[in-house]
Amino acid sequence: MSTLAGRVAIVTGGARGIGAAISTMLVERGASVVVADMGCAIDGRDGDPSVARSFAETLSENAVSYVDDMADPAAAAGAVSLARERFGGIDILVNNAAILRDAFVFRGSNEDWDEVIRNNLSGAYYLIGAATPAMRDQAKAGRGGGERYDWGRIVNIVSSAAYIGNYGQASYASAKGGLTSLMRIAALDMARTGVTCNAVAPFAHSRVTESIKPANDEQAAYKDRALRVPAEPVAELVGYLCSPPASDVTGQIFGVRGREVFLFSQPRPAARIVGEPGGWNEDALAAAIDGELRNAFAPLETDLEAFNTEPLV
Ligand SMILES: NC(=O)c1ccc[n+]([C@@H]2O[C@H](COP(=O)([O-])OP(=O)(O)OC[C@H]3O[C@@H](n4cnc5c(N)ncnc54)[C@H](O)[C@@H]3O)[C@@H](O)[C@H]2O)c1
Repeated sequence: MSTLAGRVAIVTGGARGIGAAISTMLVERGASVVVADMGCAIDGRDGDPSVARSFAETLSENAVSYVDDMADPAAAAGAVSLARERFGGIDILVNNAAILRDAFVFRGSNEDWDEVIRNNLSGAYYLIGAATPAMRDQAKAGRGGGERYDWGRIVNIVSSAAYIGNYGQASYASAKGGLTSLMRIAALDMARTGVTCNAVAPFAHSRVTESIKPANDEQAAYKDRALRVPAEPVAELVGYLCSPPASDVTGQIFGVRGREVFLFSQPRPAARIVGEPGGWNEDALAAAIDGELRNAFAPLETDLEAFNTEPLV
């Protein structure tokens, strides 16, 4: 394992579950870490600052807690200031914090939608916006000592729910889809600075998987499998993305489930039909779609069907 010594990271939601595994991996590999976690319930309510404080204290003297709500621009700026003041810079952002307020689209509340989008998507944008000017200054100042700045990494923790879907996850999946698009744009915007940005869709045992209430046998089997998958392999993949061999890996969507690492395809036109110069008439359009596009349609399935194989742990 190459060292990450000298690098400074912020891990949102870094005191529990997958985020805690990522914070631990980064510290073990020599990085300093701001554990930005408000210690809230799965739905984002009831923050408890003692969660991140005690986690960071036991983790290492190279870890410090930050307990404000990261879905707030001032908190994002505050976390970056803390990283720079305490550890001398900011190199790695892991946008991992997320909440869930699931509801069928015909039953959900606008307030819950807004809260999930703010927390799971806007918070990541605020943090990227607060940290990337500093990363660009660091690159100009030759931070890291290499020919070009090679320490800058952004990892957005997403979910296969964004690409495949799950019943009742409109706000969560939409936020994760947005987080994937944000990844693509950050990868493009930061390419000249040498900062990479990737997305990782994890599968791992956490309090969230524990909270799944199976509605049928298939969901019960899915939950059983999910509970057997540890969070450490997610941290290993994030560690790889932060390390020198991945300095040119950017703009990608990975998945990780135990020993399996997936690369997700990204939407590109999968098939094409072209109408007459005067435009389509409805019958011709319907016939062309049936004849040439229909066999490329994405199935209307959920994560449960798409990942119904036994995980390798
Ligand atoms: N567990 C899985 O199998 C799975 C699957 C797909 C995606 N994910 C994603 O992985 C990430 C981690 O999930 P987990 O299962 O470890 O969740 P978790 O609920 O165990 O941990 C999330 C942490 O984020 C913190 N947090 C949430 N909102 C915050 C905010 N605004 N400010 C500061 N802290 C905040 C919480 O306090 C909590 O400690 C999430 O992005 C989740 O969507 C997990």
